[in-house]
Amino acid sequence: MRIVAEHLSYTYNPRSPFAVRALDDVCLTVEEGEFFGIIGHTGSGKSTFVQHLNGLIRTPASLKRRKRKQASPVQTLTVGEFDLTDKKTDFRALRKSVGMVFQYPEYQLFAETVKEDVAFGYKNFADKKPTDAEIGLAVNEALSIVGLDPNEVAGKSPFDLSGGQKRRVAIAGVIVSKPEILILDEPAAGLDPLGKREIMELLHRIHGAWCKTVVIVSHDMDEIAENCTRAAVFAEGRVKYCLPPRELFKMTDELLALGLDIPLTAKICLALKKRGIEIDCDFTTEDFIAKTLALKGGVK
Ligand SMILES: Nc1ncnc2c1ncn2[C@@H]1O[C@H](COP(=O)(O)OP(=O)(O)O)[C@@H](O)[C@H]1O
Ligand SMILES: [Mg+2]
Repeated sequence: MRIVAEHLSYTYNPRSPFAVRALDDVCLTVEEGEFFGIIGHTGSGKSTFVQHLNGLIRTPASLKRRKRKQASPVQTLTVGEFDLTDKKTDFRALRKSVGMVFQYPEYQLFAETVKEDVAFGYKNFADKKPTDAEIGLAVNEALSIVGLDPNEVAGKSPFDLSGGQKRRVAIAGVIVSKPEILILDEPAAGLDPLGKREIMELLHRIHGAWCKTVVIVSHDMDEIAENCTRAAVFAEGRVKYCLPPRELFKMTDELLALGLDIPLTAKICLALKKRGIEIDCDFTTEDFIAKTLALKGGVK
């Protein structure tokens, strides 16, 4: 399933003094199979955009018609076969295909045990009422892939787990129904470096094996450089750039002007360039090291 947004705009509290134009003519395509990143300053529209993708925020159909009359470009938003600007779309079926992990999802854990919490996600989207054995198996698989030992945690209260473990339980509760597209809003925010690394590792295990496409919103440029096929830069509700990390992080001046950071590898490349050493890498640590070692004292 591809995600295609064209001329997508969204205003909170329209026609009121508190109106905020959160998305302004967003055009963006995410291909099936991508590990896609969304970056941008706080308030740039990232969360508003991703919440559109599983119908949590809807583009009113009336707006679509009115726009057409005004001869301005028609806004469209499709995920695979689903037309999200159509009121008649089966949004339950859409949500089965597009799993959404919100920011700080651990605050939404509610059940008495980890098993019940993850099972809720499974039962919610099962086509027919699953047996206890089916539920048990699905929960164990989901906990294992997020790096938790089912025997150890399934019977525990989610509230007795560490922050990183809770976050992983919350992710398990979304992937347990094997959505085709998995969207995560700042999945590593607020975790320590080890917790962050564990989250990114589990996303790679999920990507391909469980969910064909992964979309992450992130503040962490190293995370984007290391993991993403492409990344879109949001600024003031618009998509400023949409490029693979290799090209995106060459645009140091543009990114810094937007108040964004660049990966550590890009900073080092920049510092070396000023000293006359050019390293053409894709900004992953691995490629950076390989290209640096290949210089073999080749300082010009
Ligand atoms: N529920 C809301 N009501 C009104 N304004 C909102 C709401 N949510 C977000 N906004 C505003 O919309 C803009 C985009 O916000 P958001 O999508 O949350 O950005 P980001 O996720 O990039 O930080 C911001 O100006 C924000 O203040
Ligand atoms: Mg946000």
